[in-house]
Amino acid sequence: MTPTSQKKTPKRTPPNKKTKKAPAKASPKASDTWDPNIVVFACNWCSYAGADTAGVSRIQHQPHFRMIRVMCSGRIQPGFVLRAFEKGADGVLVSGCHFGDCHYIFGNERAVEQFEKTKNVVRLLGLEEERLRLEWISAAEGVRFAKVINEFTDQVRALGPSRLRPKRQTG
Ligand code: FES
Repeated sequence: MTPTSQKKTPKRTPPNKKTKKAPAKASPKASDTWDPNIVVFACNWCSYAGADTAGVSRIQHQPHFRMIRVMCSGRIQPGFVLRAFEKGADGVLVSGCHFGDCHYIFGNERAVEQFEKTKNVVRLLGLEEERLRLEWISAAEGVRFAKVINEFTDQVRALGPSRLRPKRQTG
């Protein structure tokens, strides 16, 4: 057998880049480009620690919130929540220990009463009730913390910016 009788394998040609089309990008909607400001009031003993657990466990969640640590959810008065809205919050989450776990025995029962009053004031101001949420999250519930944050952020994003947001000064 001579070397010229051996079959040559055909050379591979690179795919023609001109014929490949990139998928068309959809134009972004306003709801896709806007991120809400969420304020989270978290009790020191449970919910704040639950957020810490989510962080230490590297559980992914949306980042559009600021956390304010309080010693007990019973400390959250309507004035705190209204001040948050006045300062530019689009949604406010109040979170504390589960019933029976409050370090001050009945603090979270008081939180429920305060939350009902807050809801009434928020309604009077013409804001949607969905901008407010009350949740019980324990120190071990990092996954639950992330789930609540994601759900609430999406819910507020769907509502759009709060009408109490201060107008941005230009110039
Ligand atoms: S100490 Fe957490 S709700 Fe009271």
